[in-house]
Amino acid sequence: MDNRAIGVFDSGLGGLTAVRQIRSILPSENIIYFGDTSRVPYGGRSKEILLKYARQDVHFLRSFDIKAIVVACGTVSTNALPELRAENDLPILGVVEPACRRAVAVTKKRRVGLIATAASVRTGAYAETIRAIDPTVEVISKACPLFVPLVENGRDRPGDIVVETVAREYLEPLKDAGIDALILGCTHYPLLTDVIAQIMGPEVELIDTGAEAAWELKRTLKARDQLAGERQGEAVYCASDRPEDFGTLASRFLREDIPSVREVDIERY
Ligand code: DGL
Repeated sequence: MDNRAIGVFDSGLGGLTAVRQIRSILPSENIIYFGDTSRVPYGGRSKEILLKYARQDVHFLRSFDIKAIVVACGTVSTNALPELRAENDLPILGVVEPACRRAVAVTKKRRVGLIATAASVRTGAYAETIRAIDPTVEVISKACPLFVPLVENGRDRPGDIVVETVAREYLEPLKDAGIDALILGCTHYPLLTDVIAQIMGPEVELIDTGAEAAWELKRTLKARDQLAGERQGEAVYCASDRPEDFGTLASRFLREDIPSVREVDIERY
């Protein structure tokens, strides 16, 4: 048993979709969440900058006594995970591997779609991971840069003509390619599940990377005998800018209210 907290970070508030899954799958765990709201978005940045930011985010989380880190951000998971793992002596879980394993397990047509930020798609990390699990599975990737600002502006529901038009343009080539599993490779995309499902149809399974990472976290902690004891876990929320905005947006990603948010000067880390 290990009652230390789990550190979770993201470029901003989107990673709260992963926190929601962790809280539901591992309700006894304490969580320390950091959203880098002063430097969001990460999704168009270079690998060098992402590595610098990710190292600072990890350094901040490690100022607490934590037992594992979840990189909720798809963009950091695809660009910086090997380096973060090599530099840290605690489990660091990203969102890529668990989602790829799930996709390979569910695809019957051996054709998987991936949607994510431009910086994530550029790395080819999902395709490479899937190839390593099963070389017969083909991956068709599509960067969807307009999805994040649309979600952040509340344009995420079916019937919203703007998001539906954008989503059709992004997703129809994937549908035409005959995929039967689609990895939602970005923190914000679970909020678009209904819009995406409506376009892709019931025969395409949508894979929530945050949920898969949460299951992976449970397996990892169990294998290391590090699950928390029976209790109600608590969460602490930190942000690097405008913590007062956190509550409003956060409730949409987390589906619960956040009592207080601590402001962090991330450049110090
Ligand atoms: N959190 C990012 C991701 O999952 C999306 C938002 C951003 O571009 O920073 O890739």
